[in-house]
Amino acid sequence: MQTSQQLKNQYLQNWINEIAQLAKPQSIHICDGSEAENQKLLDLMVAAGTLKKLNESKRPNSYLAWSDPSDVARVEDRTFICSERKEDAGPTNNWKAPEEMRETLAKLFDGCMQGRTMYVIPFCMGPLGSPISKIGVEITDSPYVVVNMRIMTRMGQKVLDLLGESEEFVKCVHSVGSPLASGQKDVVWPCNSENKYIVHYPEEKSIWSFGSGYGGNALLGKKCFALRIASTLGRDESWLAEHMLIMGVESPSKEKKYIAAAFPSACGKTNFAMMIPPEALGDWKVTTIGDDIAWIKPDLDGVLRAINPEAGYFGVAPGTSLKTNRNAMLTVSKNTIFTNVALTPDGDVWWEGMTDTAPEKLTDWQGKEWTPGCGRLAAHPNARFTVSASQCPSVDENIENPAGVPISAFVFGGRRADTIPLVAQAKDWNTGVYFAATVGSETTAAATGKVGVVRRDPMAMLPFCGYNMGDYFKHWLRMPNRVAKNPEIFIVNWFRKNLDGKFMWPGFGENMRVLKWMFERIDHKAGAMETTLGYMPRYEDFDWKGLSFTREQFENLTSIDSEKWISEVLSHKEFFLTLQNSVPQEFLNIQENSFATLAKLYKENRPATDLLN
Ligand code: OXD
Ligand code: MN
Repeated sequence: MQTSQQLKNQYLQNWINEIAQLAKPQSIHICDGSEAENQKLLDLMVAAGTLKKLNESKRPNSYLAWSDPSDVARVEDRTFICSERKEDAGPTNNWKAPEEMRETLAKLFDGCMQGRTMYVIPFCMGPLGSPISKIGVEITDSPYVVVNMRIMTRMGQKVLDLLGESEEFVKCVHSVGSPLASGQKDVVWPCNSENKYIVHYPEEKSIWSFGSGYGGNALLGKKCFALRIASTLGRDESWLAEHMLIMGVESPSKEKKYIAAAFPSACGKTNFAMMIPPEALGDWKVTTIGDDIAWIKPDLDGVLRAINPEAGYFGVAPGTSLKTNRNAMLTVSKNTIFTNVALTPDGDVWWEGMTDTAPEKLTDWQGKEWTPGCGRLAAHPNARFTVSASQCPSVDENIENPAGVPISAFVFGGRRADTIPLVAQAKDWNTGVYFAATVGSETTAAATGKVGVVRRDPMAMLPFCGYNMGDYFKHWLRMPNRVAKNPEIFIVNWFRKNLDGKFMWPGFGENMRVLKWMFERIDHKAGAMETTLGYMPRYEDFDWKGLSFTREQFENLTSIDSEKWISEVLSHKEFFLTLQNSVPQEFLNIQENSFATLAKLYKENRPATDLLN
């Protein structure tokens, strides 16, 4: 077997040898992360048909991949947390005993890289040298994974140098699960349509992924390491690994605060993170640290400081346009890898929502001829762009700051057509954590096939928390013991609809009005009314410059119907039952109190925005 390099780190070398003996690749390549290496892999994939080079004058240095139609998204039902004890995985995760899973995987991985190159990717989640960052090494037989990991993480020789002789790294093993017999011709997107396994062993801090080459299933630094494994590290080491964007907000008087926000998939996290404030509001600026994941740790002064462990965006393309997210469109104007979007006749890309009218002719993500009205989508709904965060026009100046940024507020939101008001500020930490833990979002067709069913998604972490959800809630409730000043907690809902089924709030850049209110609430500068839900804005507490929005519209958008809230709290109760007996007592107390209050208001025919004394 041909190896590109012998490593000084014997522990790492031994592990590589062990995986090579099992997977039996044709050769081994240790990635240095260089430009030359990257270009070689891109050229190799163009020659193999895995990538298409896009038109250099329209989309410089950019490529398009079309995956196998069976391999287009994360596979939650094939995702396992194999902790020693079943109760540590909890009722929301698939669990298998580690020995049983190891046996299954040993069979699948035996010879699974035959005929392929085994790439070794040393990578760092977070800025190099940050006390919050962590190192991982991913072994993979997919060159597509290597070029994507080069964008999504800091990777290569510099990470090997940083690791030195240390044995402290998360071991990530990935195979597309499609060995090649001698002389067998490869397919353009190898994967395994029969067997897929995304497996996490939290105690030994390792990840094994088999059968898929797509996104979070294969780029193991992302959901697998930065959320599932990192959340267990956070539990053990007293910090938080969260499914949150991080944004900087700067006021016209140049005061700056950082906010971390959690939304389930398909709620416009990337749009919010890169928002362009309306000019009419004055010189407010939004800057972007991250669009998906935050690692947040108390520093020695008890300030919660956050980093984005990722170095790039793996964003959903459909729906992104110059109108909905100008910054994202500018970010992907060059040096981008697109996956499962459509190809234009002049060698550029297109997806649903990019322009008001579709091009007359395209090649769709399955390589078929496409015309408007043909009845098929041109891009897969989960089509993606992979691009470096450094290209984003709104990139924050502190993105590479090893100390991270101080977090002043947490925002939690979901997609809800009714019940949840535009915004509310929790009265205290525990109530805020309760709100976060009971956030629900209506499912979209892309995710489940069923539209409009409310799925509870605590802190947007349901598919990503690597341990027992009840313990995770307790971890959040304990955070004030470790911080000097608790960040404020807000809930938001951009997606409320009126009786005609139309969105009541314009969203996008106009969300700056909500952000401005939250920003000013942090220092108690903005006005609010006290309600059973916490503090909520009155019409006069918002800045309406440049937007015609009536008091009546605002009151409809922020009203809380006691009856609907009673059903809401009952549905929280049902959700807690599914978590078995791991729900913290603090939550049950909050629930009981709010239930009693709401019942009284309802009996007196008063809205839930009233305050009971
Ligand atoms: C993502 C997700 O891909 O949350 O970021 O599903
Ligand atoms: Mn996400």
